[in-house]
Amino acid sequence: MPLVNTKEMFKNAYDGGYAIGAFNVNNMEIMQGIVEACKELNSPVILQVSGSARKYAHHPYLYHMVQAAVEETGLPIALHLDHGSSFELCKDCIDGGFTSVMIDGSHLPYEENVELTRKVVEYAHARGVTVEGELGQLAGVEDEVSVEADKANYTDPDQVLDFVTRTGVDSLAIAIGTSHGAFKFKPGQKPQLRFDILREVMNRLPGFPIVLHGASSVMPEYVSVVNQYGGEMADAIGIPEDMLREAASLAVCKINVDSDLRLAMTAGIRRHLAENPKHFDPRQYLGDGRTCITEVVKHKIQNVLGSADRA
Ligand code: G3H
Ligand code: 13P
Ligand code: ZN
Repeated sequence: MPLVNTKEMFKNAYDGGYAIGAFNVNNMEIMQGIVEACKELNSPVILQVSGSARKYAHHPYLYHMVQAAVEETGLPIALHLDHGSSFELCKDCIDGGFTSVMIDGSHLPYEENVELTRKVVEYAHARGVTVEGELGQLAGVEDEVSVEADKANYTDPDQVLDFVTRTGVDSLAIAIGTSHGAFKFKPGQKPQLRFDILREVMNRLPGFPIVLHGASSVMPEYVSVVNQYGGEMADAIGIPEDMLREAASLAVCKINVDSDLRLAMTAGIRRHLAENPKHFDPRQYLGDGRTCITEVVKHKIQNVLGSADRA
């Protein structure tokens, strides 16, 4: 099976009441760790690349590694641009073999977001590529841009039908209280998501796939390992898994996870080097990092996404 776009994945996920994991990829070990978990559990997956990951690892390397994953596993895999910041970046990714792109105009005035997103959709659809748009702004750090919590804003359900109709997007990222990074809530603050907004959006867009960014649960087992070996993550708080499961059973068809992968990889590497201070073969510590990535992704598929045996 060649790389796929997200159309059928999302239809199956919506109808089946589960979500597809969209995992950020920056290097070979992260990608192999994710794909190994999906292979073991027979799960479809979205491998997503941010603009800065593309700068770091370079487009041809990422593209060919994902092709290798498709060849090796035969799983339905989509290669997706995460937080596309311009038409030109989306176009480069589409021309270079990505099967899905996000155009993130969420920081723009509404009409400009509509115009930019519509332009990307026109280019993408003519080439069989699916497009994710965004309405509402999450707090946190993404692609080196930091959005203060008080500047973030929830998605306005009154805008979603107009946005989707006028742009033609295939899925929509909404802001309901998730945020990017490992520090999603202040210490002592009770994690909460605005399920009322999600349900309003569902009423306006029946059957339409919704995307949750900033959806790492910041798994305590990896936070504690990172802390044990000198990290400063004591105040890290993520989205509770039961909330993510509920979202996946509703219209949320794509759940984005990056911070949990970063934590797991770092935990594996820090532990390895602390326990084996004489090791200097990168395969030894990166191998442990990769194993931790596989553990996290298996955990997500089984406890959050519900996508096992849906390939
Ligand atoms: O939402 C952003 C992702 O976590 C990607 O982060 O731009 O540092 O690769 P990055
Ligand atoms: P986290 O920081 O919660 O992993 O979110 C990642 C994300 O939304 C990537 O687009
Ligand atoms: Zn994001």
